[in-house]
Order: sequence, then structure tokens, then C-alpha cells
Amino acid sequence: MTTALVILAAGKGTRMNSEIPKVLHPIAQVPMLVHAMRAGAVLSPERTVIVTGHGAEAVARVAQAEDENAQIVVQQEQLGTAHAVAQARDALDGFEGDAVVLFGDTPFLQPDTLERMIAARAKNDLVILGFDAADPARYGRLVMNGDALERIVEFKDASDEERAITFCNSGLMACDAQSLFSLIEAVGNDNASGEYYLTDIVEIARDRGMGVTAVACDEAQTLGVNSRSDLAAADAIFQTRARAALLDLGVTLMAPETVYLSADTVIGRDTVIEPNVVFGPGVTVESGATIRAFSHLEGCHVSRGATVGPYARLRPGTELAENTRIGNFVEIKNAEIAEGAKVNHLSYVGDASVGAATNIGAGTITCNYDGVMKHKTTIGENVFIGSNTMLVAPVSLGDGAMTATGTIVTRDVEPDALAVARAKQENKPGYARKLFDVLKAKKARRDKGT
Ligand code: UD1
Ligand code: CA
Repeated sequence: MTTALVILAAGKGTRMNSEIPKVLHPIAQVPMLVHAMRAGAVLSPERTVIVTGHGAEAVARVAQAEDENAQIVVQQEQLGTAHAVAQARDALDGFEGDAVVLFGDTPFLQPDTLERMIAARAKNDLVILGFDAADPARYGRLVMNGDALERIVEFKDASDEERAITFCNSGLMACDAQSLFSLIEAVGNDNASGEYYLTDIVEIARDRGMGVTAVACDEAQTLGVNSRSDLAAADAIFQTRARAALLDLGVTLMAPETVYLSADTVIGRDTVIEPNVVFGPGVTVESGATIRAFSHLEGCHVSRGATVGPYARLRPGTELAENTRIGNFVEIKNAEIAEGAKVNHLSYVGDASVGAATNIGAGTITCNYDGVMKHKTTIGENVFIGSNTMLVAPVSLGDGAMTATGTIVTRDVEPDALAVARAKQENKPGYARKLFDVLKAKKARRDKGT
């Protein structure tokens, strides 16, 4: 079946209490709208129309970054869900196939649910997605008659008897696109909210002799995000699912509930994740790696057999080859660390490449920023960087080179050379004893108050 997605994302989301349009608030570091678009993508839609309103430009940017073919329409005034869908009419002019209406703030739809809706469409003109609500609160109620859906009544307009119904409207629907627009034309706004309710098309369709039914899914899938507390709850649901998926894939999570994942986190089999690790966007960890406790990773790739942390920070552009070691209190940014290289303690390596089997001593810093521009540090293979070396970029060190502890490297170092750049040490015999005596005498006078 040819489908077009119509995603409603014009609402302000007043209860979010935010400058950011509601649908751009992230769950697992990805905007809610993108979750909804990805859920809809399982139908391989021929077209995707996003109905924007509040923060239209920002919403459009995010939508088109996800799908450059997404069509953006603007609903200037939010007059209700039917009015919102009507804005997609021109974008779907001449489109022959089904329109599937989704809400931008409903991020957890599962693929099989959409597929079941499409399957039900084969026997019905209009299919609504419903769910049995544990607490039906202010949802629209689905008034069923056997398998047939008679009508949807919004909470505000419902009688006590109707409010007792727990089978509720998720907001999703599937219908032939041109029939949908024709039904919407007949919707009025004579109701408790004075809005054009999309839900009214059910009764209109029945009056026109069309077949209407509802498909049910579990409530978690239709969870709508309306407040920060909903957002936090949605993120928690996402985390629980994503951790369970990783465990199934053969990843060890020593304390699963303390590991924070992003929607795009990829971790290979037999990798061990210790407690309290944060995966920001864009992280891939291959098989058999170890991410030790309290590490923070984003925009990086960790190869097989590497060890990271505890207390390591991998920033965007970090590429760790196989069997590398990144130890405690080490920060790596935009740098390639080749096979078997070690940066074990208290270092900053940024805008750099480090060759295979090279060892970076404790407290080493690539001084990559001159206050205006960033510069690169290139370190060869089998290099030994002594502790507390400052590598003032741009600078390069050849294979097999060495730096003496405390060296400030400002010039390139040729292969196999030792760079020493520090003040020469001088020992003054007996001076320590003399100095101690002077200091102790001083302290004794002070203690006596003289
Ligand atoms: C809607 C349904 C209700 C259902 C509930 C499920 C209607 C009339 N009611 O109610 O039956 O149980 O969702 O969560 O459809 N939007 C626009 N433009 C508008 C109005 C809304 O784009 O003019 C968008 C919102 O941004 C949101 C979605 O449509 O993404 C739903 O709107 P909302 O006002 O939240 O509807 P509810 O009152 O929750
Ligand atoms: Ca809502």
C-alpha cells in the first residue's frame, strides 16, 4: 500500500514551560519528532508531511535533517487536529494512497502496530489506533459497537457514561488520503473547546456508510509527552528498552540502570560496560571492549579490545583503534589513537594522531589552541612521551622518538630522537639542611609571638 505520513507538530506544548517547541525536546538525545518520523518510516512512506506551527522554522530544520524530502506545511493558528491535517491537503494534492496521521509528541510507536493498522485498512475505510488506558484521564473515548467504531467523544464533551469507557484514542489513524480530506471538510467546531476535532470524522464517515474500526496497542506505545515529567518518564522508558536490547545482544552491563544510552548508541557483543557510563550521541563500540566506570563518550568510535576509563572522556572525533588503552582522567577529542597505543593517566589529547604502540605519559597535554586557531599534533609509532610533556601544536614527532619528562615541545622531533626542553637541574650540597634550619627558627619565633 502506498502511504503518506502526516505528522502533527504545530502545538505549543504549553505544559513543557519551554522556549523550545515541544516536539524538539529530546528523548535519548533525539528530538521527539524524529522518533515519530522513524516510527512512521517503517511504512516506507512515499511522502512525509510535517504540520508545523509553533517554532515552525526550527521544527522544519530538524525534520529535513532527518528526511530531506519531508514536506513542511505551516498551520498559522492552531484551531484543532482536523484543521491541522487539512493543512496537508495541498502537499498531498493528487496523491493516491493512504494517509497515516501521527502525532509528533508520541515517540514510542512500534513497527508492528503501524503494520496492523495498515492490515486492518484492507477491510475498513478508516482505522483508528486505540489503547486501554490504565488512567483514561482526558483522552478521547472510543465508542465501539462490536468491531465497529461508532464515534470518538472528547473527554470535555463526554457524558458520565462515556467517561467510564477506558478504550481511548491514541490520535493515530489511517485512511485513503483524498477521503480523509473530504471527511475533514465536514468537521465543525461546535464543541466544548471550539476546536476542529479530527476525531469527529469517525461519526461523519459512518454517516457516509464507510467502515470504521479501531486497532488496539499497549498504552506504552501511545504515551504522549506533555510535560517535563512526561519527558523524563519517556526517556526512562527508552533507557529501559535500550538496555534490555543491549543485554539481549550479548553486551554486559554491570549495573544497567546506571548506564545512559542515546538512541543511536551501538555496542558490540562481549563488551563490558561498568556502572555509571554516559553514551552521548554518535557512539559506536565494537565487540570485546571495556568501558570502565564513570566514563563519558560522545561522537566516537571504540574498536575491539580497547579499554576506556574509569573516568575517561571521549569527545567527538575520537577514533580508538584495537587494543588501545585510555585511562583515568584522560580527555580525547578529534584524535586518532592507533592500535595498541596507551594514554593512561591525566592527559588531554586533542586534534591529534597518535601512532601504533605509542605511550603517552601521565599529564601530557596537546596544546592545540593558541587562543584563536586550533592546530594539529602528529605523533608517530612506538613513541614514548614522557610525563608532563606539553606538545605545542602544530608539531610532529617521528616514529621511535622520545620526550623527556616535563619537556615543552615547540619544534618537530625527528624519528628516534630524544627531545629535552627543560631547565637544567642543579644540586646545592647542604643547602636543604640550612634552609630547614632557617625555616624552623622562623616558625619557633612566630609560635612564641615574638
Ligand atoms: C488528542 C485527541 C484525543 C486523543 C489524544 C491522544 C483530538 C480532538 N483529540 O487530544 O482524542 O485521546 O490526542 O493523545 O484529536 N496539533 C496541531 N495543531 C492543532 C492542534 C493540535 O498540530 O491545531 C497537534 C499537537 O501539536 C499534538 C497533536 O496535534 O502533536 C495532538 O494535539 P493535542 O492538543 O495534544 O490533542 P489532545 O487534546 O491531547
Ligand atoms: Ca496531547
